[in-house]
Amino acid sequence: MSSFSSTKAKKVSPAKRVTGSVRMPGDKSISHRYALLAAIAEGPSEIHGFASSADCQSTLDCLKRLGVKIDRQGDAVSIQGAGLAGLKPPQEALDAGNSGSTMRMLAGILAGQPFRSVLTGDASLSRRPMKRVIDPLARMGARIQSAEGGLPPLQIEGGALVPIRYELPVASAQVKSAILLAGLFAEGETEVIEPSPTRDHTEIALEQMGAEVGRHGRAVAVRGRARLEGRKLHVPGDISSAAFFIVAALLVPESNLVIQNVGLNPTRTAMLDLLVPMGGRVKVLNVEMVNGELLGDLHVESSPVQGGEIPPAMVPGLIDELPVLAVLGTQTEQGLSFHGAAELRVKESDRIAVVAESLRRMGAEVEEFPDGLRVAGRQRLRGAEIETYGDHRIAMAFAVAGLVAEGATLIRDSACVDISFPNFFTTLEQATQ
Ligand code: S3P
Repeated sequence: MSSFSSTKAKKVSPAKRVTGSVRMPGDKSISHRYALLAAIAEGPSEIHGFASSADCQSTLDCLKRLGVKIDRQGDAVSIQGAGLAGLKPPQEALDAGNSGSTMRMLAGILAGQPFRSVLTGDASLSRRPMKRVIDPLARMGARIQSAEGGLPPLQIEGGALVPIRYELPVASAQVKSAILLAGLFAEGETEVIEPSPTRDHTEIALEQMGAEVGRHGRAVAVRGRARLEGRKLHVPGDISSAAFFIVAALLVPESNLVIQNVGLNPTRTAMLDLLVPMGGRVKVLNVEMVNGELLGDLHVESSPVQGGEIPPAMVPGLIDELPVLAVLGTQTEQGLSFHGAAELRVKESDRIAVVAESLRRMGAEVEEFPDGLRVAGRQRLRGAEIETYGDHRIAMAFAVAGLVAEGATLIRDSACVDISFPNFFTTLEQATQ
């Protein structure tokens, strides 16, 4: 039986099984994009299944400060589009909280505004690199000042932008999206070339709302001055949240879990592409397409997983899932290793270092590389106290580790799960009863 205390630190006990049917919060990536695009569209939008994530609330709060009329009732969000030219100069700084997506993608919109705005964030966000958006947006004509080293806060003086053709130095959907959003305010076609494919929710949402988007190979282009039209939108459940439940059900014996209504956009399903050939019993059911996004239910059963080396080409598509995959690695036949994931060091925490530290606290053998990890297989984990460093995905990954460890695991600062999945512990408790 799992047991969970109600204090700030959560206690997770070994689980006998993971069963039943669970629902995930609305997809965080898609919710940000629908809110941002609805704000600059013409007319009203109604977004259903909007993420309960604190990050997505940060996006809504910033948009309100820009004069956008937003009404939220639970997971239903109504946004009165201000049009491309209708945002108002903010009276105060725009606080993106913990959310890199909010800061980077909103910077793209602010670059096209004829006023000055300041984007700030919490201590974690204030350590995250912003030069990657400053450089292309400055090339388009925005004047952006940052703290030393290209760190937040950002002061953006936007205005008339010129279209650019830009090769991304790092695979980042946030940076790609920031440039495409800025491209809406430029006359002509703005094109971004990716080193490897990343999530394409922005491209899909732009098309859904009436923008002209061209896609050829690794290039994506948007025509500026598009007239976006507000509309009714549905957000599927977040597959990156489902990842924790997929791993939990694969690892805990006698598990049989259905995860309903999960987004299955092919740029997000790399985890299934990796685990199914390794023996993970995950079936996809009831697939449908809504607003250009695939979704369906997942049926997961406990399985022995082979493990092996994750090909570097798969890494960008797995970036948010790597912490929980490292946990899974400890229980595989061969262990799990990956390279090419230096980006993990500049997420909400240095996820390579923190995953290695946390696995070691649980008695596991792990090798750390500058851009990856190697975790030995068939390891016994023992319950430990986990320092999350305020990182939601670390808290959830090690709660899953706690389900297969000997003895109790204590997840410190567990409230950080609110960043993407406020009901995480309640849902886990329900599935492990
Ligand atoms: C996201 C892109 C990824 C991901 C983040 C969400 C997005 O970040 O890690 O959780 O919604 O575009 P990068 O763009 O920095 O790779």
